[in-house]
Amino acid sequence: MKKNDLKNLTLEEKISLLTGDGNWKTAGANGKVKQAWLSDGPSGLRMHNPNNVSETLRATALPTCHVLSYTWDLALCYEYAQTIAEEAILNGADVLLGPGVNIKRSPLCGRNFEYFSEDPYLAGIMGKTYVEGMQSKGIGTSVKHYCANNREFDRCHQSGDVDERALHEIYLKPFEMIMEAKPWTVMCSYNPVNGIYASENKKLLNDVLRGQFGFDGLIMSDWGAVHNPVRAVEATLDLCMPYSPRYAEEIPAAVAEGRLSEKQIDERAQKVLDLLNKCEEAAPLKKVTGTKESRHETAVKIAREGMVLLKNDGVLPLTSAKKVFVYGNIAKNPFISGGGSGKVKTDFVQTPLHTLIGEKTGAQIEYEGANAWEPFWRNIYQKAYEADVTVITVGHGPETECEGFDRSSIRLSAEQEDAILRIAAHANKTVVAVYAGSAVDMSRWIDAADAVVFAGFAGEGVNEALSDLLCGKANFCGKLTETFPLSLADTFKGGATGDGEADVYDDGIFVGYRYFDKMKKEVLFPFGYGLSYAKFEYSNLRIEKKGEYDYDVIYDITNVSSVAGKEISQVYVKDVSAMVHRPEKELKGFSKDFIAPHETRTVRVKLDFSSFAYYNVSLGRWYAENGWFEVYAGGSSRFLPLKGRLLLEADEKTQYSVR
Ligand code: BGC
Repeated sequence: MKKNDLKNLTLEEKISLLTGDGNWKTAGANGKVKQAWLSDGPSGLRMHNPNNVSETLRATALPTCHVLSYTWDLALCYEYAQTIAEEAILNGADVLLGPGVNIKRSPLCGRNFEYFSEDPYLAGIMGKTYVEGMQSKGIGTSVKHYCANNREFDRCHQSGDVDERALHEIYLKPFEMIMEAKPWTVMCSYNPVNGIYASENKKLLNDVLRGQFGFDGLIMSDWGAVHNPVRAVEATLDLCMPYSPRYAEEIPAAVAEGRLSEKQIDERAQKVLDLLNKCEEAAPLKKVTGTKESRHETAVKIAREGMVLLKNDGVLPLTSAKKVFVYGNIAKNPFISGGGSGKVKTDFVQTPLHTLIGEKTGAQIEYEGANAWEPFWRNIYQKAYEADVTVITVGHGPETECEGFDRSSIRLSAEQEDAILRIAAHANKTVVAVYAGSAVDMSRWIDAADAVVFAGFAGEGVNEALSDLLCGKANFCGKLTETFPLSLADTFKGGATGDGEADVYDDGIFVGYRYFDKMKKEVLFPFGYGLSYAKFEYSNLRIEKKGEYDYDVIYDITNVSSVAGKEISQVYVKDVSAMVHRPEKELKGFSKDFIAPHETRTVRVKLDFSSFAYYNVSLGRWYAENGWFEVYAGGSSRFLPLKGRLLLEADEKTQYSVR
């Protein structure tokens, strides 16, 4: 007999399991079952002290998930999750409330820094790997926020009105992919989806998540997302978080009146017990092999691989500069995360960026903070003029990018933009390092910069990683997983939110680069973009058929420089003659390869049914239509030097009549 058995519980006790015990624990059913501790997530443990919940425990602040995704590195993603899991084990947490896999539909979304990508395939594969890494250590995950929670504006009320195809192809796709990793739990979002709150949305929770995607774990609510306990139970929501007194009042009455059956209660309570059993059974996996120091090193390593070099005229790396001037308070007090439930409290003490640059280059260092009022500008100009290279640190932190609200602009503050222009006008060479959690419009100042680095919200290892990269102790390899538009006006509807009632997703499947491609718009930096100190050339694309829908795309990448580096190459697929509208191209695979100077690497990327399929609404499932497909490979979504094609000729039985 399982330790936690439904048979041991009264109806009242079973009902008590359907909501939490306080903010962070599942209920104990009069001491008859063990309780599970739930903790945020997702870029480090943000756990409340069980003995004093007003205190947040200290933990390693890893780079936030947007920087993790810029690594395009599944092994690092796995290690990232395991690192967090070890701190969960050490502190007694059972389930980590993450990863967040919502799609970045607008650069304004206040939580973009917590999410992986604008591309569902990338968000899905990263999310799946994260879940595998975390659960390999016996810590459960809660994949969130299911679904269509793509903005923070009025997130608790405004409906995401999404057509079925876009819902499946863009917004549900990451969740569907992650099911392979068997996440212990999924967290529903606050918002209504097509007019029904996610917590009450039987179609989304039961029919799609459990039925279509085969999820057999527990569905919990986001914190305070349940509006009506009876409808939530009907919709198969298992756990309302945090504690809601309404469960004890409203559910027994609904059972007594026959509006809910005891079987419905049993099914939900059983999911809670299943979760508790999983927590207990996972005990042998809960091994901690790392130390505080090694976890910090992991944070630095991932930051190093996730920062993106956006522009470089050769000023970087700083190997020959004798005198370097660093400007900005951010160099001393870097932004390492956005705000809200994803913010981790670290006790790591930063070494200022300028100190580290001095140590790593031996150059003479000058530094000025940002509080430079008029009388001091001359001092700053003088330092910029005298230095070989000026590094300007800019960005914004949790006050600007935060859970609960969106940004109103994607530009830096006017003061920061002014500072870049004023200082660059006096500098010999200007490097701008941007610390932010989502796309930034750089149009006003980018021409004044000789190099630009997007450091992102890179966690507690930010200055160590950034100084390694700037000084050439490590090579850049990160690439963007979201488009940086020229301006907000260029994005879909200029990033407008809904009207408070509904946000109509009439961009359909054309989100992110799919939108910019369709509209044939120039962008500041495309999806998939990032530079290296090495230089890579692509050649020799060939396609090998392996099965009805299975192909290998093979190509060569040559490092034509004398610097070793890693290249993230990407494979996109276009359906040339579909019977429905389809994007210009879609990411379907990628590879990250270390390539020595002057070496040529042969890369192999696999395509399968999902590389060709779209969500067919008439059939209610994924469908791959026979015909020609083009396959592109290259270094970003807008640099695809290689092109091939293949003719999909699946069995006639699977195909529908063509026009
Ligand atoms: C957030 C979730 C988070 C939960 C618990 C909510 O406000 O949306 O992502 O896990 O709070 O902190």
